[in-house]
Amino acid sequence: MNHPAPNSRLIGVFDSGVGGLSVLRALRQRQPALPLLYIADSGHAPYGDRNPAHVVERSLKVTQHLIDQGASLIVIACNTATAWAIDTLRERHPTLDLVGVEPGVKPAVALSRNRRVGVMATPSTLASERFASLLARYANDCKILGVGCRGLAAAIEQGEIACEQVDQLLDLYCAELRRAEVDTAVLGCTHYPFVAERIAQRLGPEVQLLDTADAVARQALNLWVARHPERSADSGNKGQVRLQSTGDTMVLARLAREQLGLFEPVENITL
Ligand code: DGL
Repeated sequence: MNHPAPNSRLIGVFDSGVGGLSVLRALRQRQPALPLLYIADSGHAPYGDRNPAHVVERSLKVTQHLIDQGASLIVIACNTATAWAIDTLRERHPTLDLVGVEPGVKPAVALSRNRRVGVMATPSTLASERFASLLARYANDCKILGVGCRGLAAAIEQGEIACEQVDQLLDLYCAELRRAEVDTAVLGCTHYPFVAERIAQRLGPEVQLLDTADAVARQALNLWVARHPERSADSGNKGQVRLQSTGDTMVLARLAREQLGLFEPVENITL
């Protein structure tokens, strides 16, 4: 087992599939010069409808692979993996810089005027102790409605975002949020920013959507710059991005191209 190389500049980013590209996009928007390796664990997705032991086992495997490739900072660009695996990953890799993604309950509570907040996430994220702890710490006087969007990440993962299956699921889950009259909805899964416009159409202009990708990117960059202060002036250069998938490479290649303008080839890997 290799250990993280503290001087390596590489940032590893992973998700169960293509969703974490929304975090990769935020990282590149803040600092285009970053050397990034993205892993879509599409061969073992979705994480959110599976049992937690599967999520922990896959997160350990993918993290070890990223370390073996030279990553010294890893962004868990997946709410479900963060919910179930970040504590184990921290225990196993105490010298690794790790940043996770959690539903933005705290900022949503601060924004809500009518004190009703919806959280769209995988059933697994909503069932986790970490989510319960977020609510205990930050919900305050707000009524929080968790909508477990079963099947939505998997449907987005099919590669055709504008498909009927995604539309039907969005109709269903957004209707629940409308009935609850929330004025703020949290995108608590990294796949959902890719359908944010279609969620917004269904919820109407009075409901604000909250995505934590940029906050996560900022936190990751602070850690990275602390380790590599000499690189922080590199923002004018183009960073190198590598894309790998344990499943269908076409899906990742297509979303990366269409949503991020990345034309890099996707390598298929077995983990
Ligand atoms: N994108 C992931 C998340 O943020 C999970 C999607 C899935 O595999 O179910 O929760």
